[in-house]
Amino acid sequence: MSEHYETDVLVIGSGIAGSTSALILAENGIPTILISKGNDFSETNTNWAQGGIACLNEDEKPEDFINDILKSGDFINNKSAVEQVVKESRSLIQKILIDKLKIPFSVTNGSYDLAYEGAHSSRRILNIKDMSGKIIQEHFFKYLKKQKNLKILFKHTGIDLLTYPHHSLNPVRIYEEPKTVGAYVLDQTTKKVVRIFAKKVIIATGGLSSIYLHSTNPADSCGGGVAMAYQAGAKLAHLEYIQFHPTSLFHKDVDSFLISETVRGEGAKLMNRKGEYFMKKYSPQADLATRDEVSRAIYSEMIKNDDDYVMLDLASFVKINIKERFPTIYDTCMKLGIDIEGKPIPVVPAAHYCCGGVLSNLKGRTTLKNLYAIGEVSNTGVHGANRLASVSLLEGLVWGVKSAEDIMSCIDEQREAYVLSEVPEWKYPSPQEELDPALVWQDSVTIKYIMWNYSGIIRTQKRLDRAKSDLQYLHHRIIKFYQKNEITDSIINLRDSVQTALLVVQAALRNKVSRGAHYFNSRTD
Ligand code: SIN
Repeated sequence: MSEHYETDVLVIGSGIAGSTSALILAENGIPTILISKGNDFSETNTNWAQGGIACLNEDEKPEDFINDILKSGDFINNKSAVEQVVKESRSLIQKILIDKLKIPFSVTNGSYDLAYEGAHSSRRILNIKDMSGKIIQEHFFKYLKKQKNLKILFKHTGIDLLTYPHHSLNPVRIYEEPKTVGAYVLDQTTKKVVRIFAKKVIIATGGLSSIYLHSTNPADSCGGGVAMAYQAGAKLAHLEYIQFHPTSLFHKDVDSFLISETVRGEGAKLMNRKGEYFMKKYSPQADLATRDEVSRAIYSEMIKNDDDYVMLDLASFVKINIKERFPTIYDTCMKLGIDIEGKPIPVVPAAHYCCGGVLSNLKGRTTLKNLYAIGEVSNTGVHGANRLASVSLLEGLVWGVKSAEDIMSCIDEQREAYVLSEVPEWKYPSPQEELDPALVWQDSVTIKYIMWNYSGIIRTQKRLDRAKSDLQYLHHRIIKFYQKNEITDSIINLRDSVQTALLVVQAALRNKVSRGAHYFNSRTD
């Protein structure tokens, strides 16, 4: 008999959303298992977030913050979700991040240092300099380790959600409403697939931006949660809205390093390689326009001037102490020979955030029974067509709480969620082929190039058609490969990448209206 676990709640993913729900559930006596692909909590998108967490100011009206989010999302947001995230911001940040976890947000003379980012109408971003996500994640981990109702399994990768009737050997399950009862999960250390049975499953797997050639995300952010939810039959929406962050470092030795928007919030300006500050030409808000506008402006300048990058000039404009305010950016650039107090930083846009995802309501419930989706993997409607800066950690926190509260309100009634003997063990291929890393690497790079060139900042019918056919061919080949080979974390990531990439391209093909982060240029067809 292979190993299996039974629990009340399985949380897949350990960023701020998954960590928050696991913390609340465990503290309230609900047996919970949290799985993470990494060795520790350092490979989450949360850990890499520099800017901070947006919070309604004491002296501002909720409508101001709500309007900023709606405007950034080009008004296709779910207004109730936007209201929820804004109205809960102050109390939940206070209760969980400050009172419980003791997160040391930056303070000067007894007041929080509030940062400014593009398209915000006021300074409202709590931060710990440019290490906000890292410090938040470390505090969560310290706290979660002490929870006795919580089991944390590192180096465990979600493969498929277990669903009824699909995974049940009992034929009468077909007459019941489809539901999830857990997940098949790879234990990377033993190389065995374990079944984790749960009454409720929360997917909090983060984003998918590493399916693009240039991304600000950890390498394994390749849409695992989206792929699993899709396979299980949950509804997805708005996957075409992929947000490109305007400024990631352009350097041959460094990939995926973000130059936080808070740098422009402190006055830094973009210039092309001819030394022209160009943003005023593109938007009245200039360097602090919405991210989609700034990214397209940079892309246009790069094409027009045949350049691979543009420059971000801090030295001429930022009035505060750069080294002190942005220590991570300063040190990283200095190690590469760029003294940002004197020289501009070479930057390019990079895939940063998926504004759509697994459709989920105000409590985090998806369209599949017993399945919740929270954080970046979800589409709660907060972000609409384009996310406002620093709202993602906030959304993760709020939906982490809402999903946990919803589960606590109904878990007692739910006794018979699954029957162990009904769900078969994982079937390993026989004979099993040994994985050739060169094939995995090549397929993964091919997907990244397809997405970058054909489904990137500016899309056209021809590019997307080409992306779809190339990805369909790859999908077919990768699935065969996945079925014959030993199962590893890298092959699961590859399968998830190609599936997610296809879903993004199909969503982009269905939507010919340019809005927010989806820009469809029909004139070039
Ligand atoms: C940044 O610091 O620019 C990233 C913050 C975010 O994406 O919300």
